[in-house]
Amino acid sequence: MNRITSRVDLKSEEFATNQAKYQDEVRTLQERQQWAIDGGEKRQRSIERHHGRGKVMVRDRIDLVTDDNTPFLELSTLGAYGQYNDEAPGAGIVTGIGVVHGVPWVFIANDATVKGGSLLPVSIKKHVRAQDIALENEMGIIYLVDSGGAFLPLQDEIFPDKDHFGGSFYRQARMSARGLPQLSVVLGGCTAGGAYVPALSDEVIMVEGIGRIFLGGPPIVKAALGEIIEPDDLGGAVLHTRTSGVSDYIADNEREAYGKLREICETTNQRRIDTGSSWIDWTEPEAPAYPAEEIYGIVSADDRIPFDATEIIARLVDGSRFAAFKPEWGDSIVCGFARIWGHLVGVIANNGVIFSESALKATHFIELCEQRRVPLIFLQNTSGYMVGSDSEKGGIAKNGAKMVAAVANATVPRYTVLIGGAYGAGNYGMCGRGFNPRFLFAWPNSRIATMAADTAETVLVDIRVGGMKGAETTDAELAEIRRHIREQYETQSDPYYATSRLWDDGLIDPVDTRDALGLVISLAARQDKPESGPGLVYRM
Ligand code: COA
Repeated sequence: MNRITSRVDLKSEEFATNQAKYQDEVRTLQERQQWAIDGGEKRQRSIERHHGRGKVMVRDRIDLVTDDNTPFLELSTLGAYGQYNDEAPGAGIVTGIGVVHGVPWVFIANDATVKGGSLLPVSIKKHVRAQDIALENEMGIIYLVDSGGAFLPLQDEIFPDKDHFGGSFYRQARMSARGLPQLSVVLGGCTAGGAYVPALSDEVIMVEGIGRIFLGGPPIVKAALGEIIEPDDLGGAVLHTRTSGVSDYIADNEREAYGKLREICETTNQRRIDTGSSWIDWTEPEAPAYPAEEIYGIVSADDRIPFDATEIIARLVDGSRFAAFKPEWGDSIVCGFARIWGHLVGVIANNGVIFSESALKATHFIELCEQRRVPLIFLQNTSGYMVGSDSEKGGIAKNGAKMVAAVANATVPRYTVLIGGAYGAGNYGMCGRGFNPRFLFAWPNSRIATMAADTAETVLVDIRVGGMKGAETTDAELAEIRRHIREQYETQSDPYYATSRLWDDGLIDPVDTRDALGLVISLAARQDKPESGPGLVYRM
């Protein structure tokens, strides 16, 4: 594969302006992530109390379980950001992928310093999403349970519907039937719903003095039966390990529990991350020829000014080597083969609006990857499919639909990164969340909505004025409508608004993109080769 020759002028004023703006974006991201880790006013008292009880903080727990010097890919750190009066940093739950004895595991760990680890609507979404990741990528789950169960004031948003709390139990049972191990360490009070997480696990460790499991806690037992009982006598580690058998092992403290957990992991007979023997073609990785930090200066500070997708690809892929497909045709989409951390992948990236030719080119390329069994990476930066009479005459609706259908039916692993705008049906054709990519990450400059705020302002004002059927509208009223629409679209397309609602698996610094993709592709690499699709390459 040939090396991309970068045309970026590192000394230009434009580069410096973009870079300064992006460095600010990254600082904001880091500050907000740090807030999710240890911020929040009420949280400080909870953290002190947590330490006072001799309990380890949630991320340190994960660190104690995972292998030394291995990465932990935390997902959706900013889930719930800006919601629930800012009282639920990280939605009170940490999820991600960590390595134990060389095997990747999904971690689902409650943060008891946030609302007692109880599960708010976004927490449930995070929990269920992590289970789906485990199912699709065939990994076991380690639950570090320290949770008051359902967040009761919002019970209607977490209890009854599909993918609510019930959906998490359903997945636990289904995962078990698929032969995927699930292990629980009980580190706090697990009441009602919380009790079923360990109860549905294959093996359970309880830590004496802090771990408790009961269907109804002491206050409920008192109200229902008039029985007055201490928490440990009702559901402590001794009772459950030596009398009820709900737990299999008892540990004196957290460290002992994690040692035992690692020992159990060793017995689960799971596939390690072993790139050498994969169905995905692999060669020794090579660092990109251009530093990833240069992406800061390439992404336009003004999001109406496009930037060249090839320059981004050059900073993500091995050796900046890229075999472009159909480079002379449909150039608003860049397609081609490359390697990420040694794995062969097909890359599809936008250079702005999607025209008919670009949609057909992408469809053709997806067919190639499907036939050759090559995973697909989508780098989204598009305002959508092209509108207008020329475009309609050229059949954009059917050509866009071909691309959408090809993306939806591709059976090879697909991964998406929002590197800029993710607007309109372009978001779907480029494997947006609705198309179930295995992972979807977003950069802090990304924007996601039906259309950009500028366009929405014009379209919606026209619709409103049209709807008034000749009634007079003053300039002041029009200005107010415009302001309101713009504000709504700007707020709702903000990447923090999106990540808070788990429309992605997390915001990432562009510099970390290659590592995140490398890790998630290596999960698919350890699975069996996906069953082949039709294998037909139909020239568009
Ligand atoms: N729903 C809503 N809020 C809950 C909650 C729940 N299920 N469990 C805990 N919280 C909140 C508390 O209101 C408190 O909120 P605050 O920080 O705004 O004051 C915070 O979590 C900490 O709770 P607290 O009881 O002070 O902490 P603790 O460490 O002493 O005890 C629990 C933690 C989880 C053992 C205890 O709160 C508990 O038993 N909760 C109720 C569990 C329950 O009945 N769940 C039913 C689920 S169906």
